[in-house]
Amino acid sequence: METKEIIQNYWDYRSETYNTSFADQSEEERRLLTNMLSTAMDNRTDLKVLDVGTGPGVLALIAAELDNNVTAVDLSEKMIEKARENALMRSLDIEFMQGDAEKLELPDAHFDVVMNKYLLWTLPEPTKALTEWKRVLKDGGTIIAIDGDWHNEGLISRTIKCISNAIKMLKKVNYQRVYNKHYDPLKNDLPLFSLKPERVIQHFKEAGFENVSIERMDNLFSSSGKSRKLLDIINCSSPVYVIKAQK
Ligand SMILES: C[S@@+](CC[C@H](N)C(=O)[O-])C[C@H]1O[C@@H](n2cnc3c(N)ncnc32)[C@H](O)[C@@H]1O
Repeated sequence: METKEIIQNYWDYRSETYNTSFADQSEEERRLLTNMLSTAMDNRTDLKVLDVGTGPGVLALIAAELDNNVTAVDLSEKMIEKARENALMRSLDIEFMQGDAEKLELPDAHFDVVMNKYLLWTLPEPTKALTEWKRVLKDGGTIIAIDGDWHNEGLISRTIKCISNAIKMLKKVNYQRVYNKHYDPLKNDLPLFSLKPERVIQHFKEAGFENVSIERMDNLFSSSGKSRKLLDIINCSSPVYVIKAQK
C-alpha cells in the first residue's frame, strides 16, 4: 500500500475518536487558538483562509467564527464528514473538500492565510507541501503552521510516551496499537515525524519563504485534551511550536 493510502486509512479509522476528543477541547485551548489566529491575521476579517489537514475542522471553525471565508481540506473523507457536521452544528458556512496538502486542487494566489495544525509531522514531502501552500497564497499572504515534537525518541520522551500510553489504556483507548501498525513502517519516510524547529525552518526556506518565525506555544495541548492536561501538570507535555512566514 502507498504511504498516502496508509495515512488516509488511519485517519479515516481515527475520525470518530478524534472528533470525540475535539468535542472535549477545553475553553482555554479554544481561547488560546482564537487569540493566536486573530493576532496573526492582524484582527482583520473577511479574509480568504485555507485550513489544510483540518481534521474535524479545529482551526477552520475558529477562522469562520472570526468572520473569514474559509476553505478546509483533508486527506480523509471521514474527517471531512465530521468537520461538515461540526460546521453545521455551529451554523458556519465553510467550504470543505477532500484533498492532499502536497497537491492542492486550488487556484494560484487565492488565499490571504494558509494554516494548519498538527499536520507537518505526517507529511512525506514537507517542502513540496510548503511550495503548494506558497503557490495558493496571495503575495504578502501569511502562512501559520502549528505542530509539536510528538515522537522525540529521547529518554524523557520515551518515559512520557509510556505514561501517556498507560493513561490511554486506563481510559480504554485502543487506537495506539492501530496507530503503531500504520505509522511504524512509515516514520522513516516522514521527515518531520520527530519535529525539530531548525528542520522545520529549513523546509520553509527550501520552499522559498524568508523571515520565518518560530515560537513555542505553551499551554496548547493536543486534541486528546484531558490526558495531555495531566501530562502538562506533571510538566511532561511535548513542546508545541507556531511557525509563521509571509509570501
Ligand atoms: C493530527 S490530525 C490534526 C487535525 C486538526 N488539524 C487538529 O488540529 O486537530 C492530522 C490530520 O491531517 C490529515 N492529513 C494527513 N495527511 C494529509 C495530507 N497529505 N493532506 C491533507 N490532510 C492530511 C489527517 O487526515 C488528519 O485529519
